[in-house]
Amino acid sequence: MMKVMIPPIKCQGIKSKLVPFIKQVVDWSFEGRWIEPFMGSGVVGFNIIPRDAVFADSNPHLINFYNAIVSGEINGSKVRKFLEQQGEILSRCGQDYYYEVRERFNKTHEPLDFLFLNRCCFNGMIRFNRKGNFNVPFGHKPQRFSKAYITKIVNQVDYVYVMSRHSNWSFICQDFKETLKEISEADFVYCDPPYVGRHVDYYDSWNEENEQYLFETLNQSPGKFILSTWHSNQYRKNVFLETLWSKFYMLTKEHFYHVGAKEKNRKPMLEALVMNFAPKHPHEKSVEQPEQLMLLEKFAEYQKSERLVL
Ligand SMILES: C[S@@+](CC[C@H](N)C(=O)[O-])C[C@H]1O[C@@H](n2cnc3c(N)ncnc32)[C@H](O)[C@@H]1O
Repeated sequence: MMKVMIPPIKCQGIKSKLVPFIKQVVDWSFEGRWIEPFMGSGVVGFNIIPRDAVFADSNPHLINFYNAIVSGEINGSKVRKFLEQQGEILSRCGQDYYYEVRERFNKTHEPLDFLFLNRCCFNGMIRFNRKGNFNVPFGHKPQRFSKAYITKIVNQVDYVYVMSRHSNWSFICQDFKETLKEISEADFVYCDPPYVGRHVDYYDSWNEENEQYLFETLNQSPGKFILSTWHSNQYRKNVFLETLWSKFYMLTKEHFYHVGAKEKNRKPMLEALVMNFAPKHPHEKSVEQPEQLMLLEKFAEYQKSERLVL
């Protein structure tokens, strides 16, 4: 089974489970940039490991966090120290401390506070109210920051740091319309917009007009693209696949999500990938660029030598 690198920040709609499927569909012959106008957690691009990439999102806190890693303001050691200290206070004071950090973050917008909140809030959700304040409640686990959990997060931060050091990645806070203005023929665009009518918050809302704009732009795009969207669940189907996207190629994959803890509440959802190039046969193995494997080796080296300066 393919190992998927999980990023330090989680978000709703994270595509970790679909990464192997997406990697199989990507046309690896692209020579330009990997462009992700809706990066969210970044899990897709971080597993593609492109040499040149633009990761964009309308949420400034996500982008600040990654820019702080790239600039070195945040690194594995700082994250470890911070989470050990904050996690210890959380375990003593419980939810009151969570709400204290939430209030602090809404004033200072410190990237480390964002990480802390993201990793102990309810379901790793990212949601901001109309004033632009983070408003997700506590996830009810005061003992959240165990040594093993912190080490996992530290490794996730180090991974992004090392990969970005060896590649040309930029993280930009901007609307998708801006990001899509810059596409060239050699680029590869991966789009994972919010679903119409869901996840509505200050930075993250989506309507038919946006979907239409995205369609028109990608339709004229000189580069190759993959769009992630939903196909259907047991009650509904995505009408835009028929009204807008039907002229392109499409692949689907069943995905299960849980409503509550019971096994009988495991609900199927069909996920779809839409693309403007003929995908390989699903049994054909996709070839990863050797350069990527080299970068993964560098990361292994870095981990072994603990913060070896490369
Ligand atoms: C479904 S999530 C992307 C998930 C991501 N592929 C992952 O696996 O983590 C959609 C993202 O689009 C961003 N977004 C919403 N509206 C946007 C807009 N108008 N322009 C740019 N990004 C937007 C949200 O902030 C959110 O992070």
